[in-house]
Amino acid sequence: MTQIKVGIIGSQFAAGLHAESYKRFSEVKLQAVASLDNLEKFSSEYGVPSTYEDYMEMIKNEDLDLISVCVPNFLHKKIVVDIAEAGIKNIICEKPLATTIPDAQAMIDVCKKNNVRLMYAEDWLFAPAVIRAKEIVEEGGIGKLLYIKAKESHSGSHSIYAQKKEYCGGGAMIHLGIHPVAFVSFLAGSDIKEVVGMATAGGDTNLLHTNYTGEDWAAALVTMENGVKGFVEANYITSGGMDDKIEIYGTEGNIHIDLTKGSPIDVYSRPGYGYAIEKADFTHGWTKPAVDEFLSLGYVKEIEHFIDCVINDKEPNVGTRGEDGLKALEVVLAIYESAKSGKLVKL
Ligand SMILES: NC(=O)c1ccc[n+]([C@@H]2O[C@H](COP(=O)([O-])OP(=O)(O)OC[C@H]3O[C@@H](n4cnc5c(N)ncnc54)[C@H](O)[C@@H]3O)[C@@H](O)[C@H]2O)c1
Repeated sequence: MTQIKVGIIGSQFAAGLHAESYKRFSEVKLQAVASLDNLEKFSSEYGVPSTYEDYMEMIKNEDLDLISVCVPNFLHKKIVVDIAEAGIKNIICEKPLATTIPDAQAMIDVCKKNNVRLMYAEDWLFAPAVIRAKEIVEEGGIGKLLYIKAKESHSGSHSIYAQKKEYCGGGAMIHLGIHPVAFVSFLAGSDIKEVVGMATAGGDTNLLHTNYTGEDWAAALVTMENGVKGFVEANYITSGGMDDKIEIYGTEGNIHIDLTKGSPIDVYSRPGYGYAIEKADFTHGWTKPAVDEFLSLGYVKEIEHFIDCVINDKEPNVGTRGEDGLKALEVVLAIYESAKSGKLVKL
């Protein structure tokens, strides 16, 4: 059996999502991690033999087939360009692809030039509930698709980088809303052509997190090339755990998905217990713990798909290529432009 050697850059939250998923596949040897912190804990938790503070050292010393880039948004471009030029042939980059269009384009160009497979980690497209809903839509189960509503929200980011526009490229919309943005296009099978956005503008204009320099609330109405309408929302004002909801409307029916709180388990606990769902701050009283969040949010199937692309020399699915990351970023930045100008923005 072919086994590929994988390295991860970054060692905190997103790196953990990748490592948890990689460890489920015998085709993968999680060989090395490079990061500025948490190396000892991360390597012992996931059985990673080699650790580095400098990712270029990792590349020099390890013969890696694939690298997951799980660092703050503003570093995606530099790191992807560095490692593509250093000879790594397969790269998974976390969302958003970059914080600016020129950066995203540069990443795509460098990968093309160096014959590197650039894979864009949009986990929503691999969530089993999303895949099933898409099958039903494609089968004609709700008639002609008309309108899709999607949001991701929670109480605020754990990462200091995500709280600052200079590191993140924005606030809730670029960080959370990029999932619904990619999803509505994926489901409709059509690019977004125009947006009308509204958002707080960070600092004192924020609804709750006045210490964040990016927005803590944003929403947009979008129209796709094929006429399907959408509504995408992202916010950091939602307590009680991450809340990812989808509504899909067609001429003959509709579909509702609760990605995060749709667990079949109801628990009532007086003392509380270890973990229920992402960003939930306690577990006593009535809760609905996720059965397998890595699977239900799409991370496991996403990594499985990217491993298949590497081993069998395949192109990643539409929605998960570098250019799809660029498209999603263009929409997010158009939403910001619209929110600022108060006008509809065409892409
Ligand atoms: N797909 C998802 O659902 C999801 C969820 C969370 C985060 N993310 C994305 O993952 C990325 C990382 O987010 P996070 O929440 O893990 O952030 P984090 O702040 O928790 O961790 C960032 C990690 O990057 C490392 N790092 C910073 N600079 C580095 C450098 N120069 N070299 C090597 N390592 C460096 C830090 O040491 C840290 O380990 C972001 O782009 C974020 O948008 C995706």
